[in-house]
Amino acid sequence: MRNKLDRRDFILSSGTALAASALTATTVLAAEPGTAKKPVKILGIACSHRKGMTTSKAVQIALDAAKGVDARIEVELIDLGGLIFAGWSQKPPEDDFTTILPKLQDPAVGGLIIGSPAYYRAPSSLCKAFIERCAPLREPKMLMADKPIGVVAVGAFRNGGQELVIEQVQTAMLCFGMIPVGGKPPAFQGATVLSTKDDISGDDLGLDTAKKLGIHVAEMALKLGA
Ligand SMILES: Cc1cc2nc3c(=O)[nH]c(=O)nc-3n(C[C@H](O)[C@H](O)[C@H](O)COP(=O)(O)O)c2cc1C
Repeated sequence: MRNKLDRRDFILSSGTALAASALTATTVLAAEPGTAKKPVKILGIACSHRKGMTTSKAVQIALDAAKGVDARIEVELIDLGGLIFAGWSQKPPEDDFTTILPKLQDPAVGGLIIGSPAYYRAPSSLCKAFIERCAPLREPKMLMADKPIGVVAVGAFRNGGQELVIEQVQTAMLCFGMIPVGGKPPAFQGATVLSTKDDISGDDLGLDTAKKLGIHVAEMALKLGA
């Protein structure tokens, strides 16, 4: 009788031990550092006052191309059109920017694509206000440091100042420690898009620069975040 009990005890305890060791192995495998592929998020910010218009569409095209680079890439468009917020002030008000800030502070964010219409060969005031309000991304910690920034500029003229817009936004983002990234060759500056009567669908060249920008931002986000 005692022997039988011993044997049953043994079987029970060894079964438990086996189950426990299998559980431990699974747990260890799951927790193995470097085995889990972390998602890398690319946020697109469309800085036109007109929600869903050409700037927003061009940024979305860049984001879609970014997403195609790797399964780890996640994208999200933040369209500022219709949101109401002012630029920097010593005591930031409770306005629409407070809904955006947490998305920017997400540690999964690995890169940004900022899009602006060309307004008198410069970024829109909304774009400037957005960048000024990003001050909490610099202090107390440089949250955007060493992450790529790509810029999309849309104008109603082929040489309407798109490259100047890109340069100004890139320069501002240097203050956040970000790394300006152009598009894959030959879109070296970034995405330069032409809107004809509020339509960018016929601008093959410009749309190609948007795709090339998205691809490069995603590639750099993966490399720099690795
Ligand atoms: C105030 C203002 C200034 C503009 N200045 C320029 C310009 O300097 N160069 C240009 O190519 N287009 C200029 N445009 C045209 C816009 O850049 C173009 O329509 C753009 O597609 C608007 O973006 P959205 O469709 O996302 O609103 C200007 C438009 C406005 C309203």
